[in-house]
Amino acid sequence: MTEPPAPAADPVLAHHLPDAAAGPPRGRAAVIEGIGSYVPPGVVTNQDLEKRLDTSDEWIRTRTGIATRHMIDPGTATSDLAVEAGRRALTSAGDPRVDAVVLATTTPDQPCPATAPDVAARLGLAGVAAYDIAAVCSGFLYGLATASGLIAAGTAGRVLLIAADAFTTLIDPQDRGTAVIFADGAGAVVLRAGTADEPGALGPIVLGSDGTLSHLIEVPAGGSRQRSSGRAPEPGEEFFRMHGRDTYRHAVTHMLAASGEAVARAGWQLADVDRLAAHQANARILATVAERLGIPAERQLSNIERVGNTGGASIPLLLAQSAATGELAAGHRVLLTAFGGGLAWGATTLVWPEVKAL
Ligand code: COA
Repeated sequence: MTEPPAPAADPVLAHHLPDAAAGPPRGRAAVIEGIGSYVPPGVVTNQDLEKRLDTSDEWIRTRTGIATRHMIDPGTATSDLAVEAGRRALTSAGDPRVDAVVLATTTPDQPCPATAPDVAARLGLAGVAAYDIAAVCSGFLYGLATASGLIAAGTAGRVLLIAADAFTTLIDPQDRGTAVIFADGAGAVVLRAGTADEPGALGPIVLGSDGTLSHLIEVPAGGSRQRSSGRAPEPGEEFFRMHGRDTYRHAVTHMLAASGEAVARAGWQLADVDRLAAHQANARILATVAERLGIPAERQLSNIERVGNTGGASIPLLLAQSAATGELAAGHRVLLTAFGGGLAWGATTLVWPEVKAL
C-alpha cells in the first residue's frame, strides 16, 4: 500500500526556522580583521539630567546601571560618528581597501539617500558598494549577517561594517523614561573572507523579529504613513517612544533564546563562553540574561555605566573598548546577543582574534 504523502511543511515556518541540525557552516567564512569605535566628546552625567528632569542619580543607577553617557554637539550627525569609527577599524585592520561599506543605523543623516555612500566617500572609498540597514539595537548583528552574506556569495572579499547611532537626536529631552537611557556612539569592524576554523570567524548567526510588537519601540511620525496622511505630526510623534516594562520582558526572553540557539549551532556549550557581549540596553536586563544563561559576572563585558544605551553601536563599541582594556583578549570564546525595536533580535559566536582595537 502506498504511504499517504507527508503533510506539506508550513511555508512560513520552513522559511524562518534555520536547520539547527546543519551545524556550523563549512568553508568560506567572514573573519574579523580590525575593530574601532568612537564616542563624541560631550558627556552628560546623571547630575546634569537631575537638573532638568524629575529624576535622580540613584533612580538612574539602580534601574539602568548608567552613570554617564556621550552626546553629540549641535550640528554633528551620525555620519560624523560613523566616519571616525570606520577610519579606526580600517587602521586596525592595517589595510584600507574594502569592497563594501554597510552602515547599521536608526538615525541616518537624512531620509534619502542612504548615509553609507557619504561615509564611504569620506573614508576614501567612493566607488564601492555602500548602503544602510535598519534593525535598531540589533543593527550590528543584522549587519554581521549581511556582511557575511556578501562575503559568502563572493560579492565582496572585504567589508567595512559600521554601526552608528546619534540616538539623542530622536529622544524627547523631557521624557525621563528614555532621556536617561539612550546615547550616541559608533563601532565598526572590518570583515574579510577566511575559513570557519580560524580565530575571528563568525559562527552561525541567529536572527529573528516580531512585528506584532512593533509599537513597543517606535518613532510614530516622519515616515510615509504619516506623510501620506497629509497631516502634520502631532506634538511628540517624531520622538522615540518605548514601553519600558514590556520591552524589558521581551528583551530577556529573546536574548536568552537566541543565545542558546547560537551557542548550540556553533557546537559549543554555554559553559564554553568566556565573554558575553550583550547589547547594553540596561544593566538589569544584562544581569538577568547572564544569570539565566549561567554566565558568571566576571565573564560579562559591560560599559553601560559609562556610555549608556547607544542603540546599534552598542555591541561593537563594547567589543572595541573591552579589547582595548584587555578584558576581551585573543582566544576568548565570545557570545554576542542583541535585542531591540522591530522587535528584532540576534546572536552569534566567535573566537576573539589577535587584533588591536582602536
Ligand atoms: N526617574 C525617576 N522615575 C522614573 C524615571 C526616571 N528617569 N523613569 C520612569 N520613572 C518612574 C515612572 O514614571 C514610574 O512611576 P510611577 O510608578 O509613579 O508610575 C516608575 O518610575 C516606574 O516606572 P517603570 O517604567 O515601571 O520602571 P521600570 O522599573 O520598568 O524601569 C526602564 C524603567 C525604562 C528603566 C525599564 O523598564 C527598562 O530598562 N526597560 C527596558 C528598556 C530597554 O532596554 N530598552 C532598550 C531596548 S533596545
